[in-house]
Amino acid sequence: MVGKYATETILADATGIARAARILRDGGLVAVPTETVYGLAARADDDAAVARIYEAKGRPSFNPLIVHVQSVEQARTHGAFNPTAEELARKYWPGPLTLVLPRCDDARLASSVSAGLPTVALRCPAHPVMRQLLAECAFPLAAPSANRSGFISPTTAGHVLASLDGRIDAILDGGPCKSGLESTIVAVRDDGRIEVLRPGPLDFGTTASADGIEAPGQLASHYAPSKPVRLDATEVAPDDFMIGFGAIGGDCTLSSSGSLTEAAARLYACLHEGARSEKPRIAVAPIPEEGIGIAINDRLRRAATPPD
Ligand code: TXA
Ligand code: MG
Repeated sequence: MVGKYATETILADATGIARAARILRDGGLVAVPTETVYGLAARADDDAAVARIYEAKGRPSFNPLIVHVQSVEQARTHGAFNPTAEELARKYWPGPLTLVLPRCDDARLASSVSAGLPTVALRCPAHPVMRQLLAECAFPLAAPSANRSGFISPTTAGHVLASLDGRIDAILDGGPCKSGLESTIVAVRDDGRIEVLRPGPLDFGTTASADGIEAPGQLASHYAPSKPVRLDATEVAPDDFMIGFGAIGGDCTLSSSGSLTEAAARLYACLHEGARSEKPRIAVAPIPEEGIGIAINDRLRRAATPPD
């Protein structure tokens, strides 16, 4: 144990899920599986519990969190749904879509969850373990990705442990995440316009950018391993850890068959492997800018941008 807490790994069966719900109820921090990436959950209606998320991640307090809910009914008590938001929720929930909506004045949420913004980010996840957990908790769960701030998102319990062991109470191990990329974030405006704040597994065609940096996850450098990353690499230098795609091979491959879905699911595992390897640099083969490839390239560009 490195940090303050003896982080417990809990198997995600019925007993384990009930145990995780109890830890959360008492204000604890539990890393939880979702269909996108592992989240670091705390009850969203408790300021002290939410503060622990920021502390464990080393996350700047101006960067708001996503609130995970069991149902659209529950979501409506936190955010104001106009017809566009209703339609998006009907179509894509439960699933990898986060809606940024005006925060209800009487929302029973810690104020730190939305970092003082007048909006709140809401998501109803599809992962069966997370759904069962939300059903057992009478409260919503705030959950950013379960990694130290600025680093690569976790898609396995092992990734979570590597970054947060000793800093959180428990990990609910539900196996590897299916989708592997964080949810698509869409802001719904009063007039029904939508803006994609973060591209993700759901492809809304554009990466329309908001005025200024609205989702801090849009910062140029994010999701970064701790060594230089070169993109669109078609040749391997001797000190490269090469991440291949399609016909271009490497030390590991995102998808040897050229499947973008498989590449999304494997992206963070490959970046974690590259970060751990003895090679001083990471190179990544070109990924087509289409479908979920848009979100993959978005994350790769941030991984390749050195932090300020
Ligand atoms: O798939 C996911 O979305 C995962 C799983 C765990 O649900 N969560 C995740 O959370 O990726 P996080 O904290 O790593 O990214 C959330 C992003 C951040 O860039 C944050 O700035 C943005 O959502 N965000 C949260 N609330 C917001 C708001 N009210 N307005 C605009 N952006 C917001
Ligand atoms: Mg994150």
